Amino acid sequence: MMEDDAVWNSLPVPAIVLDPQDCIATINAAAEGFLNASAKTLRGTKVWEKVMIDSPLETAFERARATFSPLFVNDVDVGTGERAPLHCNLQIAPLSGQPGYMLFLISPRELAGRLSQDHTVKSAAKSAIGMAEMLAHEIKNPLAGITGAAQLLSMGLSAEDRELTDLIVEESRRIVKLLEQVEQFGNLTMPMMHAVNVHDVLDRARRSALLGFGAHMKIIEDYDPSLPMALGDADQLLQVVLNLLKNASEAAGKTGGTIRLRTYFEHSFRLRRSDGQGKPLPLQVEIIDDGPGLPPDIAGDIFDPFVSGRENGTGLGLALVSKIVSDHEGWITVTSVPGKTVFRLSLPMDTTRTKRNLKES
Ligand SMILES: Nc1ncnc2c1ncn2[C@@H]1O[C@H](COP(=O)(O)OP(=O)(O)OP(=O)(O)O)[C@@H](O)[C@H]1O
Ligand SMILES: [Mg+2]
Repeated sequence: MMEDDAVWNSLPVPAIVLDPQDCIATINAAAEGFLNASAKTLRGTKVWEKVMIDSPLETAFERARATFSPLFVNDVDVGTGERAPLHCNLQIAPLSGQPGYMLFLISPRELAGRLSQDHTVKSAAKSAIGMAEMLAHEIKNPLAGITGAAQLLSMGLSAEDRELTDLIVEESRRIVKLLEQVEQFGNLTMPMMHAVNVHDVLDRARRSALLGFGAHMKIIEDYDPSLPMALGDADQLLQVVLNLLKNASEAAGKTGGTIRLRTYFEHSFRLRRSDGQGKPLPLQVEIIDDGPGLPPDIAGDIFDPFVSGRENGTGLGLALVSKIVSDHEGWITVTSVPGKTVFRLSLPMDTTRTKRNLKES
């Protein structure tokens, strides 16, 4: 029994045992965290009051129970009544030896992505960017020499040969452009943290996107009007949103598509750090597009520098995004399937302001 308990409570996935009436018989430690309540207080509660699933499961669930067969459900939103629903996969199985009892595993999809991404982004980005910055600086001078020489050469050449020198000049320009993008990282200063109206940032980004790279897109606002001020650097956050809008516009292709800018407040969202301190990041900003989704072969690495799925992409956009977000001590995640790609930014709230407002009123 001792061993069973150890296995049960070591399971890193929220797990619930349901009795034949769908009441909670017991939950493991991970589920206590997930539901934010203890096994003791939840015992006997109807499970569907605590775990809200945005998908009609009843028939399939009853069939699994009646036929003693497991049931797998992917990609459903699971809410607990206290926080915004999480994207989860569910595994359901009849509990062996206990007729009518069911075992219910809930695997939040985002959590897995979050944990692994955070680590790789920071370390890989740091070393690669430092190196690239140095190179960028060193390459620009000789490149200017090469371009100049090609231009001089071209003066005495026939039209046919001039094509070749033109090619040298053109390609050199492309390299310079790339190097300048790399240097953006070097120029990136630490954010000046102020109270920022996220909706103003989104509006600015939206307007400039519609005038330029996103002219073929429809950009819808889906704002929570009561969203409080964020703590951040408005100009840097604008860069973040512009990069995300640009990627979505590019992914959509010439035919265009729709981007939804969604904001909402998620009171309980915290970033858990290795030191155990949780920093609240309650402001959520989602940039949702209906394009083809991330190319599967690079989906896990898109925040790394120089990872690009586009022919002329440098792969620096999202690396810059992740640098800025991590300087803000914020968080960014992505979930993507064809037809729905969601980049979600989680930002800190400007608490000084709120406190002052409270005092004033
Ligand atoms: N909304 C999206 N839909 C589909 N794929 C995306 C989306 N956003 C990013 N990607 C993929 O991630 C890759 C990396 O994006 P990132 O912005 O870092 O680089 P890039 O756009 O290729 O180049 P750069 O931004 O430097 O011009 C893109 O090339 C694209 O394949
Ligand atoms: Mg990009």
